[in-house]
Amino acid sequence: MEIEIINLWLAIAIFSIMAVLTNISRGRITFDPVRTKSLPPIVNGITLIGLLPTVLTKGIQATIHNLYTKYGSVFTINFFGSKITFLIGPEVSAHFFQGPESKISQGNFYEFTVPMFGQEVGFGVDTATRSEQSRFYIDALKPSKLRSHVKHMLQEVEEYFAKWGQYGIVDLKYELDNVLMLISGRCLLGKEIREKMIDEFYTLFHEVENGLNLVSLLFPYIPIPANRRRDNARIKLKEVLSETVRSRRSFGQVEEDALQKLIDSRYKDGRSTTEAEVTGLIIALIFVGKHTSSHTSVWTGACLLNNAKYLEAVIKEQKKIIAKFGDEIDYNVLLDMNILHGCIKEALRMHPTTPILVRKTHGNFTLRTKEGNEYTIPAGHTLVSPTILNNNIPYIYKDPEVYDPERFGPGREEDKVGGKFSYTSFSGGRHACPGEAYSYMQIKIISSHLLRNLELRLQSPFPKVERGKLALEPQGKVMVSYERRKLLVPS
Ligand code: HEM
Repeated sequence: MEIEIINLWLAIAIFSIMAVLTNISRGRITFDPVRTKSLPPIVNGITLIGLLPTVLTKGIQATIHNLYTKYGSVFTINFFGSKITFLIGPEVSAHFFQGPESKISQGNFYEFTVPMFGQEVGFGVDTATRSEQSRFYIDALKPSKLRSHVKHMLQEVEEYFAKWGQYGIVDLKYELDNVLMLISGRCLLGKEIREKMIDEFYTLFHEVENGLNLVSLLFPYIPIPANRRRDNARIKLKEVLSETVRSRRSFGQVEEDALQKLIDSRYKDGRSTTEAEVTGLIIALIFVGKHTSSHTSVWTGACLLNNAKYLEAVIKEQKKIIAKFGDEIDYNVLLDMNILHGCIKEALRMHPTTPILVRKTHGNFTLRTKEGNEYTIPAGHTLVSPTILNNNIPYIYKDPEVYDPERFGPGREEDKVGGKFSYTSFSGGRHACPGEAYSYMQIKIISSHLLRNLELRLQSPFPKVERGKLALEPQGKVMVSYERRKLLVPS
């Protein structure tokens, strides 16, 4: 998500201000709602002010790490009466990920998405409807439904890179972003949009995305130019998509894309999805999948090109696969790319696209830390699970600062050391990302095509993380030189 805000602290601060305002307006601000001996340690205002230099000079990850070292895996930041509790590590994360929606939810943090996707979906509807809509996504993207996408992904990738010359220098970020948009165009939006209006679609989509700024985050409906452009663009997007939905429904046309799955989805009471729901759901799907996929593919590329050992390992794996299956790639061949899979997963461990996950608790709950301390977390707290830190805990990940895809391999399996919430780059439990398998598929298809047909070299220094963005995106251009060559497989 390309949220242009100053930094992560600011995002947390905004969420807290919203929470405080909501509480005040509803007359239920409570300064110490639960009388208990075991509340988590509190980070007070003076400590927070003292942390500012660390935030500014070393960034968010180092700051949370400092607090973790000082207070342990559970601590509460008191921000003008609004309580933000950090839960670090798998031992204290079970309730965060799998607690019932009535006790812990995504709260109203994402209300700013309503004018982007519409009143009919996501945070515009009640919780029960929203969870049915989440089920539609899960069904649309489950591995058994993905097989049919492989040929379309391959076609998009082959056509895109065929336009490159014999050799040259490109910005990997720009190139991968483009090819991923085409893949989403074909596999998610469908062939009508892909063939006839892909540029128009993404121009409008960018207008919707660009409506997301600091002001609109706090006041999504005030009539500033960015919000007006966002609203106009969404109306046009809705028209374009509705026309496709209408035409498919009236001609009984059935396709294999995600749009079709959403058209065919039914609520538990048998009701079909409306045009407005399908259009809102598909715009939201493009939104959540776009930057996450693009950043992960760039980080994977940069990590591989920066690590000769693993670049060699994935090339060797491709040779073995070609020797076994020939040049053809299908769903099963992709499943055989285990080393490449580990390399993508490790790039994402070190560079999670969603560095923090946020929830609101609606009921008290208790948890026990690894050290055996028991805490009660009172209702009303904002909860933060910092993936950026969870993915770097040294008792789970050996030498976490080292790019080491073998850590997921047989005999080590570090992502399971602390149980199922040890690796949360795709979240987990109730709101686990339904796009995980799809993401691996598309990144594997792009990477294997590049490895088989081109020799790439990183020309820029290994990218730093862009400061001031909520998503951990690679900073600046990531320049890469390429030369065409076919991978030679010994017969
Ligand atoms: C490497 C790529 C991706 C990463 C790292 C990623 C990560 C995540 C994370 C962390 C969440 C959960 C947020 C939370 O718990 O609050 C999430 C949710 C979601 N993702 Fe992904 N995502 C990726 C790609 C995709 C793609 C390609 C799609 C769709 C095609 C997708 C669809 C979704 C949806 C629909 C949700 C909402 C699930 C819910 O709230 O129930 N994601 N993703």
